[in-house]
Amino acid sequence: MAFSFNLGTPVNTALFLYILYSVQRIIFPSTSKPKTVPNEFKAGYSWLPKTHPPTVLFKVYTPKTLEPFNGRDGGRILLAINGTVFDVTAGRNFYGPNGMYGNFAGRDASRGMAKQSFDLEMLTPVDQPLDKLEDLKPDEIENMKGWIDHFSNKYIICGKLVENDAI
Ligand code: HEM
Repeated sequence: MAFSFNLGTPVNTALFLYILYSVQRIIFPSTSKPKTVPNEFKAGYSWLPKTHPPTVLFKVYTPKTLEPFNGRDGGRILLAINGTVFDVTAGRNFYGPNGMYGNFAGRDASRGMAKQSFDLEMLTPVDQPLDKLEDLKPDEIENMKGWIDHFSNKYIICGKLVENDAI
């Protein structure tokens, strides 16, 4: 059967005009500048997000400057394990004021993580020198490292914890 293209039928005419229009859009793309900078992806690739994405700054914390990040004000929640500070805001259910592990929020959680305990005596008062963890047994240190792995895979590392008088 021979292929025939009859421009006379209305469907073919419409298709032909559409193809012509599409081809001219490709060859002569619209260069008119939008009046305002688009901030949503709608019709083009040149757009700016409405706001800057949130950024996390790596900072040096002390027990005293870490403590306010306990989430009780609904704000960010940070905790430290062995000198590394994690932003655990995404785990508010765990570390928020009503969370099972709320004690760790804003604190050095090393000992509690090592000994698998969220008892208050695991925490060093914020005005005291950092817990040196020297009395911990090797399996407790291993347990703490396991938690560091877990947190590193799940949360953002946002700082390090140093002594109160170090900065
Ligand atoms: C009564 C015993 C306990 C129960 C029933 C329990 C239960 C849980 C559950 C269900 C999760 C969530 C797991 C997931 O979704 O990935 C979790 C996570 C966790 N648990 Fe426990 N837990 C208990 C004891 C402890 C103790 C004593 C500690 C002390 C260190 C602890 C520290 C944690 C931590 C740090 C997480 C990870 C939270 C996160 O991913 O941010 N848990 N636990």
